[in-house]
Amino acid sequence: MPLYPPSLEKQFGERRGKVRVLISAGPTRESIDPIRFISNRSSGKMGYALAEAAVKAGHEVMLVSGPVSIPRPAGITGFIAVESATEMAEAMKQNFPDAGLTVMCAAVADYRPARISQKKLKKSSGTMFLEMERTEDILLTLGKLKQPNQILVGFAAETDNLEKNALSKLERKNLDYIIANEIGSPDKGFQTDTNEATAYGSDGSAVHFPLTTKETLAEQILKLVLKTAD
Ligand code: CTP
Repeated sequence: MPLYPPSLEKQFGERRGKVRVLISAGPTRESIDPIRFISNRSSGKMGYALAEAAVKAGHEVMLVSGPVSIPRPAGITGFIAVESATEMAEAMKQNFPDAGLTVMCAAVADYRPARISQKKLKKSSGTMFLEMERTEDILLTLGKLKQPNQILVGFAAETDNLEKNALSKLERKNLDYIIANEIGSPDKGFQTDTNEATAYGSDGSAVHFPLTTKETLAEQILKLVLKTAD
């Protein structure tokens, strides 16, 4: 199946038909030893809502998910369960060339322990220091691989300077859209059922989505990035 019939875009000025959609969701887990890891508070709800909205709109959906406790969306074509940022990077890079639309919604760890201990770490009386190293910035990599018929969307969760930080990520990671949301209040962002966001486009556009359910926001985001507004 073609990613997108580019001729249709030229002909109708919009993108139509079934699209292969690749979505990442949830947190990553970075192991310290056989029983401990470092992770974050991502619930996976936003990414899963996007997957559901894409299925509902008739698209083919591949979901790459970190460990979450919500049910797998019905109707998706593929599901890859991953734990670490490295595993997520592998799954995303493998599936990216086939995707017309890719949305990096996952909260990927920026750092991981420099060494994973094969044995359980034992405590001692003093302070413990854990050396951390950078993980791959998956979105940055995908932005470099992106072809003209592919759409790449990232998320930016910020506590301050929302617009400035989001616009810098949009440019630096070669994205078509960045969905920026403010975190830190109880009704927005991580582990909530609702969200408020602004979508900044590489064309200079800014569309604000007022506080709503993650399901509704997912539908609005999809319509915007696929230009299928009714
Ligand atoms: N992301 C990624 N790989 C990483 C870290 C983040 O693909 N190792 C993606 C996220 O999925 C999200 C976007 O990048 O779509 C923004 O992530 P964020 O961590 O907020 O941005 P950073 O560029 O890492 O900037 P900073 O941590 O300085 O805010």
